[in-house]
Amino acid sequence: MDRFVIEGGRPLRGELRVSGSKNAALPMLAAALLADGESVLHNVPALRDVDSMIELLGSMGARVTRSGTTVTIDPAPLATAEAPYEFVRKMRASIYVLGPLLARFGRARVSLPGGCAWGPRPVDLHIEGMRTLGAAIELDHGYIDARATSLLGKRIVLDVVSVGATANLMMAACLAEGTTSIVNAAREPHISALGSFLVEMGAQIQGLGTDVVTIEGVARLSPAEHSVRPDYIEAGTMAIASAVTGGDLLLRDFPMEDCRPMMALLGDSGVSLERVDRDEAVETVRIRRRGPLSAVSVTTAPHPGFPTDMQAQLMAMLALGSGTSVITEAIYPDRFSHVPELRRMGARIELHGNVAVVEGVERLAGAPVMATDLRASAAMVLAGLVAEGETILRRVYHIDRGYEAIEKKLRSVGAEIRREK
Ligand code: UD1
Repeated sequence: MDRFVIEGGRPLRGELRVSGSKNAALPMLAAALLADGESVLHNVPALRDVDSMIELLGSMGARVTRSGTTVTIDPAPLATAEAPYEFVRKMRASIYVLGPLLARFGRARVSLPGGCAWGPRPVDLHIEGMRTLGAAIELDHGYIDARATSLLGKRIVLDVVSVGATANLMMAACLAEGTTSIVNAAREPHISALGSFLVEMGAQIQGLGTDVVTIEGVARLSPAEHSVRPDYIEAGTMAIASAVTGGDLLLRDFPMEDCRPMMALLGDSGVSLERVDRDEAVETVRIRRRGPLSAVSVTTAPHPGFPTDMQAQLMAMLALGSGTSVITEAIYPDRFSHVPELRRMGARIELHGNVAVVEGVERLAGAPVMATDLRASAAMVLAGLVAEGETILRRVYHIDRGYEAIEKKLRSVGAEIRREK
């Protein structure tokens, strides 16, 4: 297993480009199953999760080719409509094939994902939603076994705002007969992005970016070509890397709209964002800190709230803020595996249920650390970049799931970080 060796204390200076969004690319790859013919996705990031999704589609018989950041997917003729346990275990987003398979082929067998590093993470809303659309679903030997001769549009109310369930139901509803409305839908940027791709394929969708998404079913979708938008979580992580190291980074392809809620909070803590150049939806911004970083309090929430996927990275930054910050994790109450590791580096953090109280300290000290999930790993890299001395981060494969060549990008702006086998 690879590890990162980081020598902390180097301010990051220079220019970085934000890669394509993992959480937008994954459902789009699955959505390509909905059309007969070859869909093309550009700006697909080179990530382990993307590899896993491509392998999964290939294992079902789809023809998938990749050249640089362009991926071409042709589902026909699909040999099997099954997502086996070995794929779903590696990557929960494998569940995104459920909706497309059911809608297009009338059959899907997808392993139940089970728990994850930060809690149970059920998929009941995906299953109940598909049942509402008319699918017959049995849970059998750890699998979701779903069949439908046809799907019928319905009103689906999600009890909890779920990114995954919204995406899966949107994809299924595109080929259902009649109108589906998803109430209390997720509004994350990757949901709107998936919706735009589906519209380009010929779907009729209204209300993207709001909490009621309405889909008028069509008989068929056509293949489409789409460029994946930049990743706002990577953008936010790099913004923190600049601020926490006292650096000065230019971030290209910065998805300003998507980042707004996150940057507002970082701004309160003393992170300055200056717009340098604008090209349609993406911009080049300059990120620095105005002075010492101050304490802030935040509760994670669905978009447009502060993203749970940035909670760990924010905590690494606030560990060095002046004063006491309070971070409440409202989406995944157990998502705190980074806390004991940050403490080992000298951070003062107390946990009370899903609330972390962070007492800022003057410095962190490098240490051997380990992270057990993707964003926690990113937090440890951030802490390592600013800590005194050497930090060794084990189990880097988590970070490879969601950050494209992170050590190369960081090295190019002055970080001392290397990968060891
Ligand atoms: C997606 C993201 C993940 C992010 C999360 C929340 C992808 C590939 N992953 O995960 O990075 O952390 O959104 O922004 O995009 N829930 C249920 N029943 C369900 C589904 C969800 O109770 O059937 C609950 C979850 O336990 C959680 C909340 O809903 O408390 C939000 O989860 P959800 O938005 O579904 O997360 P994912 O789509 O799995």
